[in-house]
Amino acid sequence: MQSSVKILILTFFVLILVAAKPEKRPFNETYRPQFHFTPEKNWHNDPNGLIFFEGEYHLFYQYNPFGKEWGFMHWGHAVSKDLVHWEHLPIALYPDNDSKDKKYATAFSGSAIVDEKNLLGFQQGNVKTLIAFYTSYQCGQRIAYSTDKGRNWKKYDKNPVIAFDEMDDARDPKVLWHAESEKYVMVLYRRPDGEEMKKGISFYTSENLVDWDYESHIPGFYECPDLIELPVNRRPDDKRWVLIDGDGSYLIGQFDSRKFTPESQKMNGDFGKNYYATQTWNNIPESDGRTIQIAWMRGGNFPGMPFNGQMSFPCELSLKKYKDGLRLVRTPVKEIELLHEKGKHFEEKNLIPGLENKNLLRGIKGDCLHLIGTFDLKTVNSFGFMLRHSKKKNGTEIRYDALKKTLSCLGKTASLLPEDGKIKLEILLDRTSIEIFANDGKVVMSSCFTPEQDMQDIVLYNTGGELFVEKLDVYPLKSIYAQD
Ligand code: FRU
Repeated sequence: MQSSVKILILTFFVLILVAAKPEKRPFNETYRPQFHFTPEKNWHNDPNGLIFFEGEYHLFYQYNPFGKEWGFMHWGHAVSKDLVHWEHLPIALYPDNDSKDKKYATAFSGSAIVDEKNLLGFQQGNVKTLIAFYTSYQCGQRIAYSTDKGRNWKKYDKNPVIAFDEMDDARDPKVLWHAESEKYVMVLYRRPDGEEMKKGISFYTSENLVDWDYESHIPGFYECPDLIELPVNRRPDDKRWVLIDGDGSYLIGQFDSRKFTPESQKMNGDFGKNYYATQTWNNIPESDGRTIQIAWMRGGNFPGMPFNGQMSFPCELSLKKYKDGLRLVRTPVKEIELLHEKGKHFEEKNLIPGLENKNLLRGIKGDCLHLIGTFDLKTVNSFGFMLRHSKKKNGTEIRYDALKKTLSCLGKTASLLPEDGKIKLEILLDRTSIEIFANDGKVVMSSCFTPEQDMQDIVLYNTGGELFVEKLDVYPLKSIYAQD
């Protein structure tokens, strides 16, 4: 055979081989969330150091670079321009004193701020210094700083800024600027005098970010505190402070930089299975004005994956006045729309069980969806969705019980009253999570699940009587890893 013919035949076979090889997109494993943040590999937990700076949202997080279990905490790092697409960056914070211990001197949770007034004196040129406050386990509250927009971090040489007390269990400093008193405030989880009953949040103030004065303590809280000020019903002249616990539950009240005075009971911030270690972004420009929160979806299960955890989808927080008082409400940030594929829109559909009992959503398939609907309860006993469903096997149910007035999903139930006889549901479905925002975020349920891969149908059902679908939008969501 002539050599040119041989080459031709060889090329032909190589081409067949290349074509037959399935396309392998990275970050496309069975249980890899497609629009929720995950590190490429290994264990992560709490979000840390959330700050918006020079056009970038920074997301640091508790990270074990050595494996899929908790321990050896470092601060992992990613940045985003839109809260949706994340660029993974090298580890930002390492354990102190070169510690190789699983716990001792490792970098536990904390927060970050901009050193607006160059109080630490490290600023290079016009780029302001970023300061991270973190707990060095059994080594007190400490500072690290970056003079290059968060890319490289140095430990402050006069650490710790709050000394370690072995009776206490102080950790997770969240620092914020309190404009009214012109002071920095730190909220810190503590167990004063080693007493379990006193576990709660301490308030400290500082004028120079380095010397911190203890001001007061409020018991009844555990880990990862946060403190934010929000307008009521978006009215700038009517503001309240919200003190948030590690599990997202919260108190509403007044805060004068030294003491928090509650005006509410402690209320639940999330009714699902997996919402923990919440934190809000610091330094979001006034022109944007949002308060944005993210959480670790603690307790998720990711069989066979190189990573072990996911963050919740970033959400906007606001305070709303209801008949029964003020509530912190939470809805997904509008940037989710960047991922919308062409959706399906339904309007004014009267669904009668038995009669036209066809699934309104038949034909829609997928593992990443955004649903937004308003449902008039008419005479139903219950209605809901079956997600990740198949003809052979039932999927995961979201159920509104119109008799008991409860919303349930994945073994969790929350009370939810109709408003004007209607229930609104916004749902974010990803490969391993379901986040439900009911009645414009008054009740939120965030949960992880591990559905079977080939179950991709979705069903809208109702029982007992008529359901009127005022409107329903269903958008398939693009993967944040897809290349367009
Ligand atoms: C919460 C928490 C924090 C601590 C960190 C350690 O999940 O226990 O209190 O700083 O995780 O990883």
